[in-house]
Amino acid sequence: MKSHILKILKSSAEYISGEDLSRELNVSRTAVWKNINALKEEGYVISSVRNKGYRLEQCPDILDEEIIKNKLQTKKVKTVGTGLSILKTVDSTNEEVKRRAANGEPEGLVVAAEEQTAGKGRLGRNWQSHADGGVYFTILIRPELPPSDIASITLAAGYAVCLAVRSYTGCDARIKWPNDIIIGTKKVCGILTEMAAQSDRLDYVAIGIGINVNQSKFPDEIKDKATSLLLETGNKLDRSDFLAAVIKQLDTVLNSFLVSLSITEFSDFKNLCATIGRTVSVERNGVTLTGTADDITTKGELIINTGSQTISVNSGEVTVQGIY
Ligand code: BTN
Repeated sequence: MKSHILKILKSSAEYISGEDLSRELNVSRTAVWKNINALKEEGYVISSVRNKGYRLEQCPDILDEEIIKNKLQTKKVKTVGTGLSILKTVDSTNEEVKRRAANGEPEGLVVAAEEQTAGKGRLGRNWQSHADGGVYFTILIRPELPPSDIASITLAAGYAVCLAVRSYTGCDARIKWPNDIIIGTKKVCGILTEMAAQSDRLDYVAIGIGINVNQSKFPDEIKDKATSLLLETGNKLDRSDFLAAVIKQLDTVLNSFLVSLSITEFSDFKNLCATIGRTVSVERNGVTLTGTADDITTKGELIINTGSQTISVNSGEVTVQGIY
């Protein structure tokens, strides 16, 4: 009911009387009043004037579980987002999802948190995740695939985030192969995928996604490499609405990818990949190889032409000249 009241308040610039709200929702005036108070406790600024009613003045920047759930229902997600848990604080949403997956949680769960106390990045790095306006979440899927497909599943997730950022903000977001989303030359999103598998079959995949959304600044050590959607657009985003949009896009893209199992089936994937056509360096067996990133295979490997040889790379740290 809380989210319904919020929706009505959001749709009106004028005061709405408690009586109108109780009639519309078919509940008592006391129930309306209690829900208004609950919203105020969450940080919504709602003015109330005798004989006029309630008016929404300001929304807090929070991830609201009930609101996101309702949006996902409206968007009719099939898999990703069929379960949702929003936490104030957690060590790492990836760890939380792995714990729940080990306890038999069905696929589709999304766990998001306002803050991670031990956020994890790739290659053992940490991922700073204070309650600073970022969106940190992990999705659980259980595809019946061999573990070798994990890299292309991650690429599909990155492609989905890229599409969602583009359509939600209009920013020219692109994929920095394999796991980052960039705007211009700066990183706006990182992805860390973890899995559990039997020898030939995945048990589960936990796709952890960190998106810089409403951060207005970054610590000195990353400020030249990181950006946020707020810094790019000048606008503060409604993170609940944005997260619901990203989850919907992940649901669409991952369901379609799990049928085709080919990343290049997405006709604009290569166009959106900032790495293609650039000079890149990659570490291989302790040797740094430099060449031009020419193409992507259906399995998502990067084809690099060094001049003397053509190699395909399926993971590892790739440095793209002119980006980071
Ligand atoms: C990277 O670029 O190094 C990957 C960063 C992944 C960060 C996300 S935030 C949500 C999820 N939980 C984690 O601990 N890490 C991922």
